[in-house]
Amino acid sequence: MSAWSSFQGLFPISSPWFLLVVMASQLMALLLLLLIAGFLGSWTCKKTMSKIIEGHWLSCFPDTCTSLVSLNFACLKGEVNLAALERLIARSPNLRSLRLNHAVPLDVLQSILTRAPHLVDLGVGSYVNDPDSETYNKLVMAIRNCMSVKSLSGFLEVAPPCLSAFHLICPNLTSLNLSYAPGIHGAELIKLIRHCRKLQRLWILDCIGDGGLEVVASTCKDLQEIRVFPSDPYIGNAAVTEAGLVALSSGCPKLHSILYFCQQMTNAALITVAKNCPNFTRFRLCILDPTKPDAETNQPFDEGFGAIARSCKGLRRLSMAGLLTDQVFLYIGMYAKQLEMLSIAFAGNTDKGMQDLLNGCKKLRKLEIRDCPFGNAALLMDVGKYETMRSLWMSSCEVTLEACKSLAKKMPRLNVEIINENDQMDVSADDRQKVEKMFLYRTLAGRRKDAPEFVWTL
Ligand SMILES: *[C@@H]1O[C@H](CO)[C@@H](O)[C@H](O)[C@H]1NC(C)=O
Ligand SMILES: *[C@@H]1O[C@H](CO)[C@@H](O)[C@H](O)[C@H]1NC(C)=O
Ligand SMILES: *[C@@H]1O[C@H](CO)[C@@H](O)[C@H](O)[C@H]1NC(C)=O
Repeated sequence: MSAWSSFQGLFPISSPWFLLVVMASQLMALLLLLLIAGFLGSWTCKKTMSKIIEGHWLSCFPDTCTSLVSLNFACLKGEVNLAALERLIARSPNLRSLRLNHAVPLDVLQSILTRAPHLVDLGVGSYVNDPDSETYNKLVMAIRNCMSVKSLSGFLEVAPPCLSAFHLICPNLTSLNLSYAPGIHGAELIKLIRHCRKLQRLWILDCIGDGGLEVVASTCKDLQEIRVFPSDPYIGNAAVTEAGLVALSSGCPKLHSILYFCQQMTNAALITVAKNCPNFTRFRLCILDPTKPDAETNQPFDEGFGAIARSCKGLRRLSMAGLLTDQVFLYIGMYAKQLEMLSIAFAGNTDKGMQDLLNGCKKLRKLEIRDCPFGNAALLMDVGKYETMRSLWMSSCEVTLEACKSLAKKMPRLNVEIINENDQMDVSADDRQKVEKMFLYRTLAGRRKDAPEFVWTL
């Protein structure tokens, strides 16, 4: 989707964690298909597969299937068989979670909601209509029928003036996810938020702006988790800054998890945030220009992230961005004693940075490093450490093939993989050449057998 495509290049998105997530969701889809196919007997398998391809997979649920609890096809691109969808929902009294894709229009949504009064989790697909129409009036009635909805998401396509139909169920919402809804912004978005006083989780695009985040801060006193994603740069140009982050930290005392894509940041803001929210367990900040310094002082962000590490004693996950020197790793190693997962890019000056980090963070399990000047000395300082970790990812750093080979030789229980996607490297060539992408992880099973050809296990 548009919002996600713009992440490429901002974050170590090509890392195996991300790939695993993608693979997992494809696997789930495949498993579901196999399950349906198995259910119907193998003789219909071919027929089932072609129906899925045509978008008629919904009619493959047997008529006797009445125990469906959750149905999520929000990410499917194709059309769906709307009549089959309505029939399936009508015979599923236990349905609690339903996430639709863009192909389900408003009149069908309305008729579905009438048949599913016990929904707790609703993902709206397309939401385009004229607020004066008959369908809209019926929708308002149908929504009035769904007072148990606690989690609302979707709105992949939207005509904002219709949104007020949903204001009815906002007071009880604990989760609102508009991370794929670039059509909802400005006054309509703020109006919606003002009705959501019980939100605990909010995923939103940065087109909400600092002003919108101030409304979140003054409205959502129970907020525990917020993610602010970048919107498609070609659509909107409003973005969030340090002001929005500070507002959230002072208005939402229960906040403990944040992912924040912003245009700029300051150390002063990070220090205030650290003071306001000492209970952060996950703090992920991404400045859209990853090497940008403090917007007021032009300094690196060492002091700001140092303050987060110092006051948030329970911090388990951290992603840092902006200009950072070795000093920040000294702070992280010194204070972030519970840290389990760290992602960094374009940070540090010398091997000492990575060494301070590895020496200090005894509980570190996953470390992702991209575009940092860390080399062989840092990698080989304490190879035993990797046996206490799940994985280390390093890309575009200063590590050489020789060092990776020597690490693999010393530590037979680690898989050291070189990912050579674009054939930048020649395995038989010079061992002093730099490694573009390295991934290492602890294993009891030896080298994996499913690796594609461009992955070399040393
Ligand atoms: C909120 O939830 C309570 C309990 O589930 C219910 O009685 C009430 O009608 C709901 N109110 C709204 C505005 O959704
Ligand atoms: C929010 O919506 C997106 C798009 O549908 C989805 O990928 C994501 O998992 C949702 N997040 C939550 C917490 O439901
Ligand atoms: C942080 O968590 C502790 C323990 O759960 C709680 O007592 C305290 O009030 C919280 N602090 C803030 C600022 O919410």
